[in-house]
Amino acid sequence: MRFAILVLSLCLFSLTSAWAEVGPDALAPYKRPLTVPFPADAPYDPRIATLGKMLYFDPRVSGGQNLSCASCHNPSFGWEAPAARALGSSNTPLGRHTPTILNVAWIAPLFWDGRAANLEAQARGPITNPAEMNATMDQVIKRLSGVPQYAEAFEKLFPNEGMTEGTILRSIATFERTVVSGWSPFDRWVDGDANAVSSTAKRGFELFTGPAGCSNCHSGWNFTDNQFHDIGLPGSDPGRLAIDPTNPMNGQAFKTPGLRNISLRAPYMHNGTLRDLTAVLNHYANGVVQRPTLSPAMAQISLSEDDMKAIIAFLDTLTEETSDVSAPTLPAN
Ligand code: HEC
Ligand code: HEC
Repeated sequence: MRFAILVLSLCLFSLTSAWAEVGPDALAPYKRPLTVPFPADAPYDPRIATLGKMLYFDPRVSGGQNLSCASCHNPSFGWEAPAARALGSSNTPLGRHTPTILNVAWIAPLFWDGRAANLEAQARGPITNPAEMNATMDQVIKRLSGVPQYAEAFEKLFPNEGMTEGTILRSIATFERTVVSGWSPFDRWVDGDANAVSSTAKRGFELFTGPAGCSNCHSGWNFTDNQFHDIGLPGSDPGRLAIDPTNPMNGQAFKTPGLRNISLRAPYMHNGTLRDLTAVLNHYANGVVQRPTLSPAMAQISLSEDDMKAIIAFLDTLTEETSDVSAPTLPAN
């Protein structure tokens, strides 16, 4: 009799623990890729990436020599700027919040509204936009040609081209493709270490991929489908509709951001209006504006305080455990 009770309780125990455990099948879609995809016409070359890193951090790439890419996409703040809208060349806030450049090797098209097809095309935007770095490509080429180390590097790395608009943009893009979020507790969990994340975070993952519907859009290892959706934020920015007016559902639709290192990247959303992850969860639970363009992929859910905390605990497990970004030494004039 005692034996039967023991067997029964063991069975019950394994049944409940099987319920509580997220199986490998549920985690498989989130496994990190082991290599970075580089385009065939801009293959990885560590020397070009190093040159691109210098250009990325160099204010001489801006008209007033006062802004670099890193001024707004700053590695200390998850490769973003810790402001709702970063200040551009004339010290006025830009129209939208600065997105991260983490994992952009996997992101296309680029910008909140997807108006740039690839990273090379994207990088031209901020350099030449009067509100951002306010330079012309001719001005940048002239200035950088006067820096001996840059002039030599371009001659050596691009023997048939030298320093051109194309080779400058390709160098910056090559560096950006190397900016990949590091290993996080979540990755160790996916890799089979059941103790890598807390049970609260595991419950958060189940909500995220289950009833809360988050993974309808934040899917895959970088937690984005690279699609455009209206998630019902208050505001009047037309988003994707201004780029592609053929689909009425593009109204107020923006590109789904990846969620790696998300806890380092406040404030949130295309307009930077949500100051922390609690505000983000409150939006999804209580703040969604119902309108015709609202994405049908949005779950109509009610989340308790505990549910929201669990989802935030899960999101926190996406932050890399060590980060080691050094600023480059810039060549002297
Ligand atoms: C003054 C601030 C500022 C500077 C300087 C700046 N950016 Fe940006 N960047 C932004 C903002 C704001 C956006 C979003 C604009 C939009 O989507 O309409 C953006 C978007 C991007 C994106 C798109 C990311 C995505 O997920 O779609 C990339 C990549 C990027 N910038 C790279 C760069 C590079 C490379 C430089 C330097 C050549 C640079 N930025 C300079 C503010 C800045
Ligand atoms: C219908 C698709 C969709 C669903 C479902 C969805 N999101 Fe999002 N998420 C987006 C889009 C699109 C944005 C950017 C919206 C904007 O800025 O206008 C976003 C933004 C975010 C951001 C801010 C990212 C940043 O870089 O600013 C976080 C955090 C986030 N979502 C978490 C969640 C969570 C948690 C859930 C589930 C409760 C969820 N999302 C459900 C599409 C979705």
